Amino acid sequence: MLKIAVLISGRGSNLQALIDAMQTPGFPAQIVCVISNVAGVHGLDRAAAAHIPTHVVSHRDFKNRQEFEQVLDARIRESGAQLVCLAGFMRLLTPWFVERWLDRLVNIHPSLLPAFPGLDTHQKAIDYGVKFGGCTVHFVRSEMDHGPIIVQAAVPVLADDTEETLAARVLQAEHRAYPQAVRMIAEGRVNVHNEKAFIAGAEAPATFAINPEA
Ligand code: GRF
Repeated sequence: MLKIAVLISGRGSNLQALIDAMQTPGFPAQIVCVISNVAGVHGLDRAAAAHIPTHVVSHRDFKNRQEFEQVLDARIRESGAQLVCLAGFMRLLTPWFVERWLDRLVNIHPSLLPAFPGLDTHQKAIDYGVKFGGCTVHFVRSEMDHGPIIVQAAVPVLADDTEETLAARVLQAEHRAYPQAVRMIAEGRVNVHNEKAFIAGAEAPATFAINPEA
């Protein structure tokens, strides 16, 4: 069983997807702690409901990022976690933290990276007029929303999409992609070479998707 710490800042629907996966028989990973940098968020209730230990480590309680991250790091290590999953964690991590957890720190981002890093991804995708959006699970590097890509899931962008409707469609894809990526890591199938992630024994989808269809 791979032990996982999940870092959140809010709603925690990706955390819930990981909790649900973890509760299915044979899932090779286990969440041993959930840490939020914001008190009172719904994700903490989800963790408590699943009897997972939680901590609030508020960045506001520290005078700089390094002190905040030292406590974060200590909490994670105390939990015995071997992998850290960022799931809507809204703080940038410094190179110090990223190096400490190199290739053991993953994030989910709601776009097909390298398109649309940062915030407001769905509005940016709509404004650009792309025909597919999606999500990316990747190993974290110090540069925001950057690092070896483990899994991507694509969804169509529809002509009448709003930020909300596209976000909802992408979120469904996120809830499949994140547990799948964690499973593959826990199975020891993910290796990074030259800043690319390779998945042993993975199959590509049989065909392409086209949007719009004629
Ligand atoms: C997700 O869209 C995730 O991709 C992004 O932040 C959002 C978090 O949502 N990094 P939730 O808290 O998991 O519901």
